[in-house]
Amino acid sequence: MGKEGFIEALVRPTVRALTPYSSARDEYDGAGNKMIFLDANENPFDNGLNRYPDPHQKSLKKLIARVRSLSPDQILLGNGSDEVLDLLFRVFCEPYTDAVITLPPTYGMYAVLAGINAVENIEIPLTPDFQPDVDQILEKAGAHTKMIFLCSPNNPTGNSLDPARVLAILEGFTGLVVIDEAYIDFSEAEGFVPLLKTHPNLVVTQTLSKAFGLAGIRLGMCFAAPEIIAFLKRVKPPYNVNELTQQRARTALSNLDKVAREIGELKASRAQLRKGLLDIPFIEEVFPTDANFILARVDNARLRYRQLVDKGIVVRDRSSQLGCANTLRFTVGTPEENTALLNTLKILDT
Ligand SMILES: Cc1ncc(COP(=O)(O)O)c(C=O)c1O
Repeated sequence: MGKEGFIEALVRPTVRALTPYSSARDEYDGAGNKMIFLDANENPFDNGLNRYPDPHQKSLKKLIARVRSLSPDQILLGNGSDEVLDLLFRVFCEPYTDAVITLPPTYGMYAVLAGINAVENIEIPLTPDFQPDVDQILEKAGAHTKMIFLCSPNNPTGNSLDPARVLAILEGFTGLVVIDEAYIDFSEAEGFVPLLKTHPNLVVTQTLSKAFGLAGIRLGMCFAAPEIIAFLKRVKPPYNVNELTQQRARTALSNLDKVAREIGELKASRAQLRKGLLDIPFIEEVFPTDANFILARVDNARLRYRQLVDKGIVVRDRSSQLGCANTLRFTVGTPEENTALLNTLKILDT
């Protein structure tokens, strides 16, 4: 890996040839500037939001770069990581020609995005202990396979992927390896961001939706080599991260103590919830987790799901996922919510 120009060669020809849209705020940044801005057809009356947001999110990226030990040119921000993942498809995968590899059971959006973008989705199941089958993956990756999607910790199983296997994929595959780390802050594992230094084909996505408690603002992050980020920036809508989101994200990233406190509480609750679930007679297996949810195998997932809904508790039935027959996924809630869940599970009819 590391051949000059290999990233450009992976990019769709249309994107390579594209002259990106240049917005008014690309040419002059309006924020805190004394100039008179009559260039973007904005309403001049100041209400704090009458100007377009910074399309490059410079101050927010500076903060993220500091927190994740990266440089701003290694960061692309999007309207949730779902937008970032979609941009990866649109930049690298030629419809009706290219393919990606996904490893079920995993986050459903990779398959949906492949479908939307008319890209073949080659599914290679995780092993029974939910780890990537490296040999199968490298064998099935063909000349048109542009990306492999790994999710660590994985949704819905909760486990982290084995770093040695991830490294083998990174080193054996000539396309991009996208590692979705939506849940990384709940894990004891360091995550794969440090490998960006040595592996130019690595892309890591993260989000403020989970550990940062900001699913409502929609802020997804993509970390990759500057060359990859530059291509993604060509395709992203100019103002894809709105001003309120940028403000709120900056506040969160300036108060990391609060985030760390909440993560600590959620991890403690996770351990307690796990212990409680193990005591429920109809729960047959509770899978290990590094995320803020727990997957458990029950006697009859459809029945238990309905019974819980009838008692006012909504969990996720993951039984339709490969290798997840009769499983329910429980998100870790507040201590009160977790107690309510356990107390309800205890009294369900058998
Ligand atoms: C693995 C994984 N990636 C990404 C997302 C979506 O993140 P966002 O809210 O940033 O779009 C989720 C949401 O559940 C997820 O489970």
